[in-house]
Amino acid sequence: MYTYDKIIAKTENKLKKTNKRSNHRFIPNTSFDKNTMIALHHLFNSNIISYVNGPLKAGKESVLFWAVDKNGNDVALKIYLTTNSIFKKRHMYIRYRKGSMYLNNSKNTIESWAKQEFQNLKHCIRHNVSVVKPIYVFKNILVLNFVGVNGIPNKTLAESIPTQHDYTCFVQILTDLYRNAKLVHGDLSSFNIFKTNDGLMFFDLSSSVPISHLNANMLLKRDIYNMSNFFKNKGLVVYHPIDVFYSVKNVI
Ligand SMILES: Nc1ncnc2c1ncn2[C@@H]1O[C@H](COP(=O)(O)OP(=O)(O)O)[C@@H](O)[C@H]1O
Ligand SMILES: [Mg+2]
Repeated sequence: MYTYDKIIAKTENKLKKTNKRSNHRFIPNTSFDKNTMIALHHLFNSNIISYVNGPLKAGKESVLFWAVDKNGNDVALKIYLTTNSIFKKRHMYIRYRKGSMYLNNSKNTIESWAKQEFQNLKHCIRHNVSVVKPIYVFKNILVLNFVGVNGIPNKTLAESIPTQHDYTCFVQILTDLYRNAKLVHGDLSSFNIFKTNDGLMFFDLSSSVPISHLNANMLLKRDIYNMSNFFKNKGLVVYHPIDVFYSVKNVI
C-alpha cells in the first residue's frame, strides 16, 4: 500500500468517528477528493480538529462542515471546491489583484483563495471589524469559529426579519471594513451576513479586495446597491446608495 493510500485510509477512519452530539455517518469515498483527504489528515494530526460531525451547507464555491476541536468547541470547516466553473469568475479578481501572481493551476488557485479569505478575516479581526473569526487555514480548508449552536448555523440576514437597526449596523460594518481594514467585501449580500444576538457579522470574504484595487469602487457600489435593495424591499428606510458610497469613503 502507498503511504498516500494509508493517509487516506487513516483519515477515513477518523471521519467515521463523530462526537456524541452528531447523528451524521461518514460514507467513505463519496464526500471528499484525495487532496481534501490529505488536508483533513493534516488538521487531525496537528490537533486542529478532533471530529468532523457532518455537512452543514453546500455554498456556491465551497462545502461547509461542522467539526469539533480538541477542547470540544464547535468549529466550521469551509472546504473550497477544487473543480468548479467559478474559477473563471475568480480569475477576474486574481488577475487584477495588486502584487499577486496570476495563477493558472486550479488547485493552486483554490488554495490561494482559502488563504486569502483567512488573511482578510484575520486582518478584519485585528482592526475590530465585525466578521467571523478565522482559526486556521491549510490547503483548500479554512477553519472558522462556529457561529451557531449545536451544529446549527446562526441565521443569516436573508433568513431573518431585518430591522432599521440592522441597516444602521450594516452601514457601520461596511464603513469599518473600508476605513479600518481598508477592504471591500466584493460579494456582499444578505446571505453573507449573520444576524446574531450581538449584532450583524460579515463573512465569506474570499472575494474581498483592498481599497487600492482597480475594481474596488465598482465592487463597493455593487455591495451597497445589493444591500440597499434588500433592506428597501423589506420595507425599511435607506439612504441613497450613492450617499452611502461617499459617506463610507469619507468624502462627503
Ligand atoms: N463560521 C461559520 N459557522 C457556522 N456556519 C457557517 C460559518 N461560515 C459559513 N457557514 C454556513 O455556510 C454557508 C456558506 O458559507 P459561505 O462562506 O458563504 O460559503 P460560499 O462561499 O460557498 O457562499 C453560510 O450561509 C452559513 O450558513
Ligand atoms: Mg456565501
